Amino acid sequence: MLKNKNIVLGVTGGIAAYKCVDLVSRLRKKGAEVHVILTKGAQNFVAETAMREISGNSVVTSMWQDIPHYDVEHIALANLADLVLIAPATANLLAKAAAGMADDMLTTTLLATKAPVFFAPAMNSNMYENPVTQNNICALQQRGWHLIPPASGHLACGTDGIGRMPEPSELIEAVEGCFRPKCRSMAGLRVLVTAAGTREPIDPVRYIGNRSSGKMGYAIARAAAELGAEVTLISGPSALPVPPGMNVLQVESARDMRRLVLDAFSSSDIVIKAAAVSDYRVKNTSDHKIKKNDTELTLVLEKNPDILRELGQLKQPQQILVGFAAETQNLVQYAQSKLEKKNLDMIVANDVSNPKAGFNVDTNLIKLLKRDGSIEEIPLMSKKELAYVILSRVMELKNMNGAIE
Ligand SMILES: Cc1cc2nc3c(=O)[nH]c(=O)nc-3n(C[C@H](O)[C@H](O)[C@H](O)COP(=O)(O)O)c2cc1C
Repeated sequence: MLKNKNIVLGVTGGIAAYKCVDLVSRLRKKGAEVHVILTKGAQNFVAETAMREISGNSVVTSMWQDIPHYDVEHIALANLADLVLIAPATANLLAKAAAGMADDMLTTTLLATKAPVFFAPAMNSNMYENPVTQNNICALQQRGWHLIPPASGHLACGTDGIGRMPEPSELIEAVEGCFRPKCRSMAGLRVLVTAAGTREPIDPVRYIGNRSSGKMGYAIARAAAELGAEVTLISGPSALPVPPGMNVLQVESARDMRRLVLDAFSSSDIVIKAAAVSDYRVKNTSDHKIKKNDTELTLVLEKNPDILRELGQLKQPQQILVGFAAETQNLVQYAQSKLEKKNLDMIVANDVSNPKAGFNVDTNLIKLLKRDGSIEEIPLMSKKELAYVILSRVMELKNMNGAIE
């Protein structure tokens, strides 16, 4: 998707600039032509020579330098760009861009370009959460710029919080979406997706949960929306940002999820249940915090409703119902039996004992089992790419279904 695309990469003066050497190298491996602009601040963190060698192009470090290769005018790169990526984007750059300043090569290029602009803020969490920075980000988004949100974690300033620049592979995934053919193959379809794990209360402060992050379900919801579907995402608690362009409903427990899923089910054409719903809940939850004492504590668990089985019973012939099976052993056998018992059209089976698959990682390794007995092994790929593969198989089933009606 990035082959022969001219990517102008603006690097500003944040610690995360060191990641840009890897970023440029990966962009080039994807076939992109990378043109780097280093702000004055950035030059304290990454050397022009390194960027020149790794990008294979001259690096712009000043508006006043003479670079024959670009036939430099201050807007040469603005015109050349198929896409501009600013990574990392400092608080200072965001403020200058929001104000429309053009006092160096990067801000001038940003003001002059008609290409899509992606920006990946990276900074100390207080700087990021400061209303001034947030207002600047809002202003840039309203202008049509695409925010690649920072991750949470340990920051270079020694604190924990939001503000870490996503890894180069994630930045590349974000910009690749821009060049994906805009196919509206799911336009007119209502798609219901569930995601993340549920939480079953023990008392007002404790719960039983699971390791599901919601990444797979959120990726499917995003991909369906991008393909033109009207999407409802029902999500258990998740640290992921709320995806734009869809109806997002947040729940805690399996019973909350059941209620909302049943409400939305009859008006849905396609239902994809990627949530990790707790099979059990605590029988006698306490209204007050359970106090510690010297004896053992026994929790009695009772069965939660089986939402997927209920949906399988309610399912109309024109509806497509997809379930997930996360197993650590006998994967195909369990998945096959779940497919049949719950009257599913397809099941996505993943072996969660594999460190590259399943909970809380960005990749997944799955098998797709269908009612006709077929089993398709999908190679390891990112959950974002996988979402499109799953939806393409769902659409094959939907189209076959339509032909039978
Ligand atoms: C060691 C060091 C690390 C810095 N890291 C960041 C950072 O991660 N994010 C940020 O917004 N500013 C950071 N700054 C402050 C910027 O470098 C400063 O605001 C500078 O003016 C940015 O210029 P530029 O946006 O033109 O690159 C850092 C400063 C220093 C000295």
